[in-house]
Amino acid sequence: MAHVLAVANQKGGVAKTTSVSSLGAALSELGYRVLLVDLDPQACLTFSLGLDPDALELSVHDVLLGRLSAGIVITRTSDGMDLLPATIELAGCEAVLLSRTGREHALRLALAEVIDAYDFVLVDCPPSLGVLTINGLTAADEVIVPLQCETLSHRGVGQLLDTVHDVQRLTNPGLGVRGVLPTLFDGRTAHCRAVLADVSARYDIAVLTPPIARSVRFAEAPGTGRSILSTARRSKGAEAYRAHARAIAEAVGTGPLKAGPIKAGPIEAGPPEPVPLEAVPLEPVRLEAGALEAAPLEAAPLEAGALEAVRGGQVPVGVNGARG
Ligand SMILES: Nc1ncnc2c1ncn2[C@@H]1O[C@H](COP(=O)(O)OP(=O)(O)OP(=O)(O)O)[C@@H](O)[C@H]1O
Ligand SMILES: [Mg+2]
Repeated sequence: MAHVLAVANQKGGVAKTTSVSSLGAALSELGYRVLLVDLDPQACLTFSLGLDPDALELSVHDVLLGRLSAGIVITRTSDGMDLLPATIELAGCEAVLLSRTGREHALRLALAEVIDAYDFVLVDCPPSLGVLTINGLTAADEVIVPLQCETLSHRGVGQLLDTVHDVQRLTNPGLGVRGVLPTLFDGRTAHCRAVLADVSARYDIAVLTPPIARSVRFAEAPGTGRSILSTARRSKGAEAYRAHARAIAEAVGTGPLKAGPIKAGPIEAGPPEPVPLEAVPLEPVRLEAGALEAAPLEAAPLEAGALEAVRGGQVPVGVNGARG
């Protein structure tokens, strides 16, 4: 049974998608079977792994609505991971899901039939705390929170943790918080370190090390359709994500690793300078009542031409299909 990790932060541009593709590639390098799920209508993960979201006939949207099984839609990427891709249709799916009973469980139910084929499933959540992110958290064993180290970053963490607590209470009691992953990190500034120290103390949450340094290599990778682990194999960024992948695999205890264990150490830092952080009251985000009364999703009719497209080989097919 796969270990499911949701990568979530409602703040945009904090490296959620980059972390999913890089961690996924790193776990795949270690020999694990990895599935990535693009839960963002922007479909950046899908694009950055070499697929054109505009040309995809089938996507995670069909799966969440119960029209297709996940296995039909999953495709293999060049970096060795499998991908449940997204298209802009996912934005409409969010609205349809809202009217359905058991909407929070759509992803968990959809993954159930393929989950035994993988060691890790990584879910790239959109920059919101809406029904798609709740689906990601409901399907997950743990959540990782990428955090750009800047003033006010802590506000988003508080709101996200409120949502995590709601999910734990209502739809997924087993959800754990793996910790904050510092991204776009500039170790030269005391400010970055001070923000991390503040977040860690304020929310009693682990800060995962090593931090992921800011590097232009990350911006270059998506255009090539590969992760940084392929495009800049020996870069510090690639090595940092490898270290996190090994730490995750060790923590989960998923079989022997190809590489040796890593040493997790503290962030190299002097004493952090105090940073004035306003104590802003946070608005808790609440799930609606009745979220626990999950019923199976209704299967909706298949869109005309969808299956023919699969059979005719017009769309890439992974686990259940025969992609050359
Ligand atoms: N360590 C890094 N150094 C420099 N640039 C980075 C780093 N990590 C990610 N980026 C770049 O920052 C931008 C945002 O990253 P990414 O798309 O992964 O964030 P996101 O949280 O998924 O965004 P969104 O909320 O829109 O989904 C991208 O252009 C990406 O290439
Ligand atoms: Mg993203």
